Amino acid sequence: MKRLTVLGVTGSVGRRTLELVEHFPDEFRLEGMAARGSNPELVVDLCRRYRPRVLALSDPDAVDAVARALPAPRPELLSGPAGLVTLAGEVDADVVLSAIVGGAGLLPTIAAIKSGKSVALANKETLVMAGSLMTAAARERGVPLLPVDSEHCAVFQCLEGHNRSEVRRILLTASGGPFRAMKAQDLARVTVAEALNHPTWRMGAKVTVDSATLMNKGLEVIEARWLFDLRPEQVQVLVHPQSIVHSMVEYVDGSIIAQLGVADMGIPILYALTYPQRLPCPAERLDLTRTGPLSFEEPDAARFPCLALARQALLAGACAPVILNAANEIAVAAFLAGRIRFTHIPELIAEAMAKVPGTPLDSIETCVEVDARTRATVRDWLPGGVAAAMR
Ligand SMILES: NC(=O)c1ccc[n+]([C@@H]2O[C@H](COP(=O)([O-])OP(=O)(O)OC[C@H]3O[C@@H](n4cnc5c(N)ncnc54)[C@H](OP(=O)(O)O)[C@@H]3O)[C@@H](O)[C@H]2O)c1
Repeated sequence: MKRLTVLGVTGSVGRRTLELVEHFPDEFRLEGMAARGSNPELVVDLCRRYRPRVLALSDPDAVDAVARALPAPRPELLSGPAGLVTLAGEVDADVVLSAIVGGAGLLPTIAAIKSGKSVALANKETLVMAGSLMTAAARERGVPLLPVDSEHCAVFQCLEGHNRSEVRRILLTASGGPFRAMKAQDLARVTVAEALNHPTWRMGAKVTVDSATLMNKGLEVIEARWLFDLRPEQVQVLVHPQSIVHSMVEYVDGSIIAQLGVADMGIPILYALTYPQRLPCPAERLDLTRTGPLSFEEPDAARFPCLALARQALLAGACAPVILNAANEIAVAAFLAGRIRFTHIPELIAEAMAKVPGTPLDSIETCVEVDARTRATVRDWLPGGVAAAMR
């Protein structure tokens, strides 16, 4: 029986994880769960259903609302961002599933690693921000970082039993998002609803917009560099609209090994939770006689500049990926709020990368400081800069 803590329990990955916990009652027990608390009623429902020992919400008002709605016996309640760090670091668990969206997941994930727990990592932004520090901490504590992202889970599986020195490159597949075939001039007019209409995956809003801009793939290139200790040029991207081949590894002899499956996060989540074992995942099975043709193409760097911006940040190193990630989070939130156009997202990120001063990434404190500074800077640009750009 594995004891789990799920960070980001109310999200798309978190909820799918709970379904697996329910499906395998002899395999998993939910010890702790965490979220922001945007929907306290949902949190109350999940507490009644899964009976965690500890609940942490970063919004203190939500903690009060849950405390009022849940009669005793209720979970131990932790409040604020510090409560999430306490949950991830100090509450006993065998695996912490890190599925908070964005930089808010950084400190709890680091706390889980430093406390020696296995980490199943969905939150790619944490590795983008602090890949060198996180992987060093994981090595020092002997903590496995198990990929949950479907592409990285695929690469992880394609590397199993092979010699790392014989890897030529990895091929991360990308669906291409809803605007894969759209003309460049039409991208400025896409709506939020169109951006949220992903062709193959159902995910939270931020990662869905990232998929539409291809920033998601850019973040995943950086994530792969750190997870698998690859040189940046060894991580390549192929657009594969059917989302059947989840990624591939090419070896020096020319062999390419791929992992295939349906687009259901249950499969990579379960693999990360049970590795090195496999369990029969409650997911649809892939029927290759019904998938139709599988196609692959180069990503279009001109229409989707976010991919090149991410690679630029990876090559620049130091705090450049922190700036990239923070600017992207603010720009995507502004797009979702209807404050900027889709095409302003890469413009704001490029501006941040050019103007926010970079520093060496010497500590998590530096990372947090550069992240906050970038967010404040990009927020300041929103009204005037956007008005000008919207003309
Ligand atoms: N969805 C997928 O299929 C998928 C696939 C691969 C990787 N990922 C990665 O997994 C992560 C989660 O994605 P998702 O789609 O599950 O996101 P989501 O549906 O938007 O859920 C986000 C979760 O994070 C929590 N959260 C947000 N801000 C927080 C804060 N300040 N403090 C504490 N909790 C906070 C939310 O809590 P509230 O609900 O209370 O706001 C919610 O539980 C992302 O990094 C994404 O890139 C997702």
